[in-house]
Amino acid sequence: MGARVLVTEPISIEGLRTLAASLDVVESFDIEREELLSIIGEFDALIIRSLTSVDRELLERAERLRVVGRAGVGVDNIDITFATSRGVMVVNAPESNVISAAEHTMAFMLALTRNLPAADRDLKHGVWPEAKSRGVELLGKTLGIVGLGRVGSAVAVRAASFGMRVIACDPYISEERFRNFGVERMPDLDTLMAASDYVSVHTPKTEETCDMIGERELSLAPDGVRIINCARGGIVNEAALVDALADGKVAAAGIDVFEGEPVTDHPLFSFEQVLVTPHLGGSTEEAQSRVGQTVAEQVVEALAGLLPRYALNMPVADAETLASVAPFMPLSETLGRAYTQLFGVPTAGVEIRCSGEVTRYRTELLTLAFLKGLLSSVEGDEVTLVNGRHLARERGIEIIEARSTDAGNFTSLVTVSGSNGSRGSLSATLMAPHGIRITEIGGFEVDLMPAGGALVCWFDGEAVDRPGIVGGVGTMLGDAGVNINRMEVGREVIDGRAIMLISPSGDVPQSAVELLKGHPGVLEVRLLRSDRD
Ligand code: MLT
Repeated sequence: MGARVLVTEPISIEGLRTLAASLDVVESFDIEREELLSIIGEFDALIIRSLTSVDRELLERAERLRVVGRAGVGVDNIDITFATSRGVMVVNAPESNVISAAEHTMAFMLALTRNLPAADRDLKHGVWPEAKSRGVELLGKTLGIVGLGRVGSAVAVRAASFGMRVIACDPYISEERFRNFGVERMPDLDTLMAASDYVSVHTPKTEETCDMIGERELSLAPDGVRIINCARGGIVNEAALVDALADGKVAAAGIDVFEGEPVTDHPLFSFEQVLVTPHLGGSTEEAQSRVGQTVAEQVVEALAGLLPRYALNMPVADAETLASVAPFMPLSETLGRAYTQLFGVPTAGVEIRCSGEVTRYRTELLTLAFLKGLLSSVEGDEVTLVNGRHLARERGIEIIEARSTDAGNFTSLVTVSGSNGSRGSLSATLMAPHGIRITEIGGFEVDLMPAGGALVCWFDGEAVDRPGIVGGVGTMLGDAGVNINRMEVGREVIDGRAIMLISPSGDVPQSAVELLKGHPGVLEVRLLRSDRD
């Protein structure tokens, strides 16, 4: 049976088809929490929207879970920190519904400004209330945008085309981005509130943004301010908004999102001047098709061990970076595995140094792959690209990431060295057409294709020059049932030791390793396991 994915909220047919091509898909909308808790342990992937809470309790029961896909942007319903510690990747679709959310915001602004809901309702009830429904123009009004990210900036562009003055505050956005969008930067939220005829929030919901616009902030705004929230319920404090509407401070509000969702009864619903929609910001045909497809592709990629573009608990990289470092990911993981097999898990610290052309890209992804390989022998399948750093930190392993332009004779080289003795180092490169080549083991220059495994023997340096040593080892291994493809004896002697590499053509029994340890002159033998094991 293939990997299983549980989809608890609707996604587009395109997304479902993508999932079904390689996964066993179970759709279960409106699933009760208790039932979800009881079945989540059977799934490798979970796809949700905003209503399913992926909290600690759920993650603790999700023994097989490797990825959570959020069909949309907001991830305030996912405990990402805990997911990371469990090795569960979290992916989302942050670009797919940006325009839809921005257009929904504009729809609110226009509808509130021209009193459309009231006019519509009155006329359908036989009233022709011309004066009451008279609106105002957007031209020349000031729009204060809280959060100039993807949606905020799309709103800014649209509002500017209506002739509005657009101001914004966002401590995480560069001056350049403000300039590019023609938006005036406000030093803080208070200044923005005081200068805005319309305020629209476009931030994620975090501890910092929860209740960000409350009684005090609303009191700073000009009388008759209009408030729009298409981001997340609770960024504008709902009770404060109700009070400000009741006393006329806020002339109108457009609210798409609520603190508790779904909700069908709310104090805000009693105001004629409040226009509400049931979390529809991203709900257009186009956005939902893109969201479903994007999240499905990423879940499939994550389950295949690849690097999804929008992984939230891994360093995010652009497509060019991903393509460029992708071949180095298996190399780094192999180095990690080989390191543990040859030298053991480092006890205090480990350095991973990337040299040459590979340093043109973001190499922290290679660190993650290395840690996955390094720790997999001690942590088993628990360790993933997501939680490698976390697990290393828990073991007290300090990770040093270094980069150097000089890769010696190679185009690119990855070298790892640990703090458990001077011999604890390994280097590898990629060489066409054979792929990964280990080029150095503990200071010895070697040329080893690790895919088939190898026996690594350290000899007494003086024994290397004795005649018959290669033949003796070959005969001993032959008698132990080991077929040898290739033997390489290093001529260097480092700290009185020399190295010999034996590449077998099949499996090496542990008894052969023990036998070799007893061969005259052999100081140490380690088995580098092949990809077959
Ligand atoms: C989002 O976070 O993507 C939007 O709010 C729409 C949704 O929650 O699905």
